[in-house]
Amino acid sequence: KKLLSIAIDGPAGAGKSTVAKQVAERLSFIYIDTGAMYRALTYKALLKGADLNDGRELEIVLNDTDIKLVITNGGQAVLLDGKDVSEEIRTSEVTNNVSFVARQQEVRTEMVKRQQLLAESGGVVMDGRDIGTHVMPNAELKIFLIASVEERARRRYEENITKGFEADFELLKSEIALRDKRDSEREVAPLRKAEDAIELDTTSMTIEEVVSSILHYAKERA
Ligand code: C5P
Repeated sequence: KKLLSIAIDGPAGAGKSTVAKQVAERLSFIYIDTGAMYRALTYKALLKGADLNDGRELEIVLNDTDIKLVITNGGQAVLLDGKDVSEEIRTSEVTNNVSFVARQQEVRTEMVKRQQLLAESGGVVMDGRDIGTHVMPNAELKIFLIASVEERARRRYEENITKGFEADFELLKSEIALRDKRDSEREVAPLRKAEDAIELDTTSMTIEEVVSSILHYAKERA
């Protein structure tokens, strides 16, 4: 019997990757971070000085780009043309530019194709913005994670402080709000809840509560 496919979508900072990683681990499924793929392309395009508003130019860059999501002893790593860029793709420069790259049709067509190949045999937890609506429209379980913008900024703030980075709460909040606006208002595959997705508001939930709730739905559908 084919293993389940689980789609997790939602706005920036709602906890998708933390939760998706843990759900995948508990089910021994593969975790696929599609945001990391858009980030890797953005990082490369910035390095090359490509025009981030030119879909055709980005498509040419992408066609010559190898992106691998690999498991390491410490967790996950993103390999861009063989080089580990896991940290580079999380800088604010990449974060604040990724929505421009992700709005290009040419980029999305190729990314969705690659993501569908990765998900082909099931047994996957994939997180992103358009997974339930476009990448895995037939996923057995679709989750849409939301949380207030204050809470999402607070989580990002604490994450940065814990890592020893500087953080400005108000700035983080406005950057998150702006990225959501761009992701929700773009023409191609905007961020939205699939009709058959289960919405979970994580504002006052712990990570463990979100994870066990998703595992419960997964068990129901297995
Ligand atoms: O999930 P993460 O915050 O790393 O995603 C970075 C960006 O990549 C998002 O803000 C969005 O612009 C884009 N993205 C997307 N579709 C996905 C995943 C991410 O457009 N499936």
